[in-house]
Amino acid sequence: MEVNYKSLISKNCKNIPTSFVREILAVCEQPDMISFAGGLPNPTCFPAEQMKQAFIQIMENEGAETLQYAGSQGYLPLRQWICDRYNSKYGLSISPENILITNGSQQALDLIGKLLINPGDPLMMEKPSYLGAIQAFSAYRPEFHQITLNSDGLDLNELEDTILKTESQVLYGIPNFQNPTGITYSAETRENLAILLDWHNILFVEDDPYGEIRFEGKFQAPVFALNPDHTIWCGSFSKMISPGLRTGWICVPKELMPYLLRIKQATDLHTNNVVQRIIYRFLTDNNLEDHLCKVRLAYKAQKDCMIESIRKHFPEEISYTNPEGGMFIWATLPESMNSEALIQKAIQEKVVFVPGKSFFTADEGQRNMRLNYSNSSEEMIEEGIKRLGTIIKKAHKKTSIRASMAG
Ligand SMILES: Cc1ncc(COP(=O)(O)O)c(C=O)c1O
Repeated sequence: MEVNYKSLISKNCKNIPTSFVREILAVCEQPDMISFAGGLPNPTCFPAEQMKQAFIQIMENEGAETLQYAGSQGYLPLRQWICDRYNSKYGLSISPENILITNGSQQALDLIGKLLINPGDPLMMEKPSYLGAIQAFSAYRPEFHQITLNSDGLDLNELEDTILKTESQVLYGIPNFQNPTGITYSAETRENLAILLDWHNILFVEDDPYGEIRFEGKFQAPVFALNPDHTIWCGSFSKMISPGLRTGWICVPKELMPYLLRIKQATDLHTNNVVQRIIYRFLTDNNLEDHLCKVRLAYKAQKDCMIESIRKHFPEEISYTNPEGGMFIWATLPESMNSEALIQKAIQEKVVFVPGKSFFTADEGQRNMRLNYSNSSEEMIEEGIKRLGTIIKKAHKKTSIRASMAG
């Protein structure tokens, strides 16, 4: 008898939306395609030689321990390193008991979903939000409530209304160089949010993979620094060093750690021990600040180039963010235009972006496009934006003519 595989699939799995970027991966990988679609770091910044040296050192000096099973919470010296860095950078007072090493911050989101979400629970997040978070949390079938993201961060009036209306207890957000918008919360928004978390007894899942990639303006302490009892803070080595390492961490109030550890054990026992030790070795044998300076300089040049190209080639009616860090610019097309309608034409012209719709849990974002600048050379950025500009101008002209005929 033929197996009906579809009937075997769980409701949790069926609830996970597909990812536009994963679906068009094959398109993005065509050699002559200019892709602003992915969220890939700049590969010229990867410290391959230093990593090789770190690997050799580990294998020569601690091969047996490295190749053995290890503790679920993660390699203690690496957890201590994370605490030392951020205690000194942001004035925190965290210790290794607060830290769980994860398989990237993507796994952190999945573990947190397992920890906090029952089917049907309300879950608040920014509008728009990171597609990977929507996917990770969807597996636990929450009821999403997206809250407007203004240029200075989350709309706190709307947040309070939503809390009162839905009795939500959990908020997910990305205060630094948000994916997909590039927006950063102001100091005032962070302070007021920290107060609201207390007032309404809300737990804030603060996803911060881009915090170290600030190339303009002043570093800001995470919301975790302002209200550590009501915040779970997630960090990652993906953008600091390389995403192939698949290593990140969760910083939580100690009371939550036993539950998270139970979940981590059930999920994958522990994060890759070899990689954790290589990262620690890399961090102790090299100057991380020198490495980060290189990354920040490269990203600033790429961001400046994309902004300059947008100014030159996009119609004036398009608005766009101008991030101080991270990897993305968020553009908004004029009224009556639709970014999804442009994608086929764009692919024909060998340039690709992510239509805004992917970042909303309801049917919104039709006028938005996410543009990644960190994985293209300046020549490709200028050429790709020029091609997109031509496509948008043509489509804009058509919609304007249609509108004037209808009027
Ligand atoms: C906001 C956000 N959170 C988490 C992740 C996942 O990152 P990681 O490579 O650490 O799993 C990403 C990746 O792009 C992201 O943009």
